Amino acid sequence: TKTIAVLTSGGDAPGMNAAVRAVTRTGISSGMRVMGVRRGYNGLLNRDVFEMNLRSVSDIINDGGTALFTARSPEFNTPEGVKEAADNCRDMGIEGVVVIGGDGSFRGARDLTKAGIPCVCVPGTIDNDIASTEYTIGFDTAMNTAVEMVDRLRDTTESHDRCSVVEVMGRRCGDLALQTGIAVGATSILVPEVPFDFQRDIIDRMMFTQKTGKKHFIIVVAEGVGGVDKLAKDIEAKTGIETRATVLGHVQRGGSPTLRDRVVGTVMGYYAADLLYRGKGNRVVVMHDGKITDVDLNEALNMTRTFDKQLYDIAHRVSI
Ligand code: F6P
Repeated sequence: TKTIAVLTSGGDAPGMNAAVRAVTRTGISSGMRVMGVRRGYNGLLNRDVFEMNLRSVSDIINDGGTALFTARSPEFNTPEGVKEAADNCRDMGIEGVVVIGGDGSFRGARDLTKAGIPCVCVPGTIDNDIASTEYTIGFDTAMNTAVEMVDRLRDTTESHDRCSVVEVMGRRCGDLALQTGIAVGATSILVPEVPFDFQRDIIDRMMFTQKTGKKHFIIVVAEGVGGVDKLAKDIEAKTGIETRATVLGHVQRGGSPTLRDRVVGTVMGYYAADLLYRGKGNRVVVMHDGKITDVDLNEALNMTRTFDKQLYDIAHRVSI
């Protein structure tokens, strides 16, 4: 019998559990042994690995976080670390690994594949920042959480006729900010992909809408732009409108996954286990034109992301 392993690595994302569950159930029902690895690549270094059965993944599809735990593993990110992990896999009879995580985790999977252990990657991150796929597991839940949080900010911002400057996560990617900004009707959305001008893109927009009767304002800022405390001070100084800064932070990573993250997690997890079953490694499971498919891992890592500038422009056309 073939033995495969599954791990989650990097920042956790809601829906990772659905993917782990699907990998496990698909693997076992195909006749393979499936090992769970705890705390990402660290688990391969420490041999923190256990055999799973069909019930090992019961009652996790609705849970946020990752039941396998996760880590960012600097020890693994060295040639010695990769070699040790590959040797441990061979020793434990692990012939393939499903890696659920973001870009950093994918680079680890490429290295492990080169060291002789074929890996299949599944995109799991709230950032939606992986070039090879239209969608990453966790993005939908994080967007919905961010919208709920900003709606709460809106209540108090509106009551006080204030301006709220709110930072959402996304690392260097503006997708989470863009979607959230549209959904909350933000006066301005600042993302790292589009250069902005303080006067033209924030102050002028606020002044214009104020003239038409608007008294409260929400400015959504991507983490990759940052600096919300200073921005809030500058806005207050320039406009005289009381302004507060909020960094949403890690609340955006938690919570029960949405339907979309459970479904995409399930299908991508199924797909990944099936690739290993069919002897295919060095692949990334991706969403392309709304369908789940797979691409070469090295090619995936060389792709560059395109930002939806058209959607960004629409957001600003409407928020007036
Ligand atoms: O990649 C997910 C993410 O939450 C990013 O949005 C953020 O930049 C980063 O992880 C935060 O990392 P950490 O949890 O290590 O503080």
